[in-house]
Amino acid sequence: QASERESLYLVSEFASSYFQNILYKTDQGKSIGLSYFKERGFTNETIKEFDLGYSLDDWSAFTDAALKKGYQLEFLEKTGLTIVKEEKQFDRFKGRVMFPIKSMSGRILGFGGRILTNDKKAAKYLNSPESPIYHKSKVLYGIYMAKQSIAKEDNCYLVEGYTDVIQFHQRGIKNVVSSSGTALTSEQIRLINRLTKNITVLFDGDAAGLRASLRGIDLILEQGMNVKVCTFPEGEDPDSFARENSLEELTLYLEENAKDFIQFKASVLYEESKNDPIKKAETIRDIVNSISKIPDRIKKEIYIQECAKIMDISEGVLFSTLAQINKKDI
Ligand code: CTP
Ligand code: MN
Ligand code: MN
Ligand code: MN
Ligand code: MN
Repeated sequence: QASERESLYLVSEFASSYFQNILYKTDQGKSIGLSYFKERGFTNETIKEFDLGYSLDDWSAFTDAALKKGYQLEFLEKTGLTIVKEEKQFDRFKGRVMFPIKSMSGRILGFGGRILTNDKKAAKYLNSPESPIYHKSKVLYGIYMAKQSIAKEDNCYLVEGYTDVIQFHQRGIKNVVSSSGTALTSEQIRLINRLTKNITVLFDGDAAGLRASLRGIDLILEQGMNVKVCTFPEGEDPDSFARENSLEELTLYLEENAKDFIQFKASVLYEESKNDPIKKAETIRDIVNSISKIPDRIKKEIYIQECAKIMDISEGVLFSTLAQINKKDI
């Protein structure tokens, strides 16, 4: 329903300007929200550029303001910005700094909201739920701000979080997007594939989920794209690293540490399993499985040769494993 979607876009647009108003024009917004962003090292210009905002720590301040402006409760509820319970209305986002999530064409689809404390019990980020306009598996945070630069640089950096995108921009690297904590999907990769064939995945230096993330990257290979990966020092993420280093240092770090994905995966997995024959067999299947996703036959062959070297095994074994995997797929 086109008119319903349009109404949801308008509600989201209103919400974004409302949250920005709160950030700049209320005492709570200024003393809590704005100072939080400043402490993270965001400049005024950056805060404006990303339309960052603040939601009041109140049960229904946003919903009340929206209803007063004439926005219908039905649409407020459908965006997830308002929660209706026993005929009462509550704001979803309360006392959080707000990150609007935009489509490729710049329309606001949903929000991420971060708590300001380091309370381990509360969810650090709260995100808009799925709605007729927001499908998290089809969205990349930052794509609207990054698209021109991705095409121009012919490369896209893929990071884990909102603040990684923002801090990179502020440092001067604008070809960067985030899957925002969700597992990478084919739809998200397709958005990038329209702009470049090259992706560099940047992992937080916390190792958590590194193995799991390695799986998602096979989806990039399937689309015939070139993938590099780069990790950061223990305890750092792209945001903290970009904040502590100059553009020159950051660029140099990325150049020196970006590794070809297949080589990276082979060496990480090999290190973990080299002393255990059963694990090593699993690792070989895992890596050959990744190679099998690459559409280009010549590239496939080159990778098999390289992995044989890295994993200290004969090419013949790898080629026959590849043949087995291909048979299963047919
Ligand atoms: N995320 C989420 N819900 C959480 C934790 C994380 O949706 N409870 C998503 C957010 O999009 C977040 C991303 O996963 O940006 C990466 O998580 P993490 O590295 O933990 O957060 P940072 O982006 O580093 O956030 P910050 O620097 O603000 O702590
Ligand atoms: Mn839809
Ligand atoms: Mn992380
Ligand atoms: Mn992080
Ligand atoms: Mn971080």
